[in-house]
Amino acid sequence: MITNEHGISSYPMVPGHEMVGVVTQVGCKVNKFKHFAVRFPDSLSPEGVAPLLCGGITVYSPMKYFGLSEAGKHLGVVGLGGLGHLAVKFAKAFGMKVTVISTSPNKKEESSDRFGADSFLISTDAMQMQVAAMGTMDGILDTVSGLHPLSPLIGLLKWRKLIAGSISGGLKETQEIIDFAAKHNIVADVEVIPMDYVNTAMKRLAKGDIRYRFVIDIGNTLTARLVLNLVGL
Ligand SMILES: NC(=O)c1ccc[n+]([C@@H]2O[C@H](COP(=O)([O-])OP(=O)(O)OC[C@H]3O[C@@H](n4cnc5c(N)ncnc54)[C@H](OP(=O)(O)O)[C@@H]3O)[C@@H](O)[C@H]2O)c1
Repeated sequence: MITNEHGISSYPMVPGHEMVGVVTQVGCKVNKFKHFAVRFPDSLSPEGVAPLLCGGITVYSPMKYFGLSEAGKHLGVVGLGGLGHLAVKFAKAFGMKVTVISTSPNKKEESSDRFGADSFLISTDAMQMQVAAMGTMDGILDTVSGLHPLSPLIGLLKWRKLIAGSISGGLKETQEIIDFAAKHNIVADVEVIPMDYVNTAMKRLAKGDIRYRFVIDIGNTLTARLVLNLVGL
């Protein structure tokens, strides 16, 4: 959106989507939610759960749809970023074997220590891709939007090979993922920022300098602003 890659950006832009909050008051005739609301568990942090409403469902939905959620199956996850780290967490909760396929050697340790991935391949290392992992995977979830060759990835799949795409998921499945996350204690790894850090965050995002999602704390930013205003700063 920052660079108008999709041709639909409109500037100036207010970044951020998928909101989490607590309903503290309702009108006297309100007795249910009508649209686009999901029940949240008390056990998980709101900032950790918020990214599941987009990045989380975007990986969870195709995993379910394409049968890549069965214990014992081997899943490759391409790109250890916002979507990728959630894909690894969900796959491990499903009981799968997970291989991270990355361009960043410095993510090897965290892929296993932090997210429980079983192995790690550098996608630009032909030897690793061909020798170690050829024909070993039941499926691959590719989260990379930048241009990259698919043929080395296809070689990692076992037998019948299919390339498919998926965009997000529906509301029913979004509730399912939140309930699943609560059961397995899955949240996104986030860096919580105040609203006035947004421009810096966008620059860092463009450089891939984030582990793994920014979450804007609107409530506390507004409270802090109010306090500053009250003391005349
Ligand atoms: N509803 C939806 O459909 C939906 C929802 C959310 C996001 N998305 C899209 O999904 C894509 C990924 O989002 P994200 O939040 O996960 O992004 P991200 O946090 O930037 O992660 C993408 C990862 O891909 C790898 N990568 C980046 N550029 C690459 C390149 N040119 N070649 C090879 N690998 C590259 C990097 O991982 P390594 O360092 O491990 O290589 C990077 O961390 C974006 O295009 C986003 O717009 C779609």
